[in-house]
Amino acid sequence: MKTVFVLNGPNLNLLGTREPQVYGAQTLADVQSLCERACAANGFALEFRQSNHEGALVDWIHEAGQLQAKGQLAGVILNAGAYTHTSIALHDAIKGTGITLIEVHISNVHAREAFRHHSCISPVAKAVMVGFGVNGYALAVAGLAQMQ
Ligand code: DQA
Repeated sequence: MKTVFVLNGPNLNLLGTREPQVYGAQTLADVQSLCERACAANGFALEFRQSNHEGALVDWIHEAGQLQAKGQLAGVILNAGAYTHTSIALHDAIKGTGITLIEVHISNVHAREAFRHHSCISPVAKAVMVGFGVNGYALAVAGLAQMQ
């Protein structure tokens, strides 16, 4: 059984209480349950993580790359939060490992402030899921299933 890594960046631990008009009322634990159901439905194992630290996300992408080299990774779903808009380190990690990665954003970043319109992740992502609310995570799992 292949594994899906779902990686969440800064401030996503605040889901449920953080700007609910933008991000909704569901918590990160709810998102994890959603991903567990979506992975089970598609025959994937799930590794679900969150960090507020850029380097931790880089390390986890490297870990996913090692799994991919062994043929055990379905792909990585990454909501890098604000690091999306700034992190060349994440861009380089994704490019350097060659992992299959789907970029996810809960909100439609293109309908928000201009500083959210640029993504360092999109050029190295296989696909991008934007503006579907937390359901975008489940849609990304289904998308990965189609790519296998
Ligand atoms: C986000 C959008 C980012 O601009 C923001 O910094 C986040 C969440 C989203 O899921 O909509 O932290 O990635």
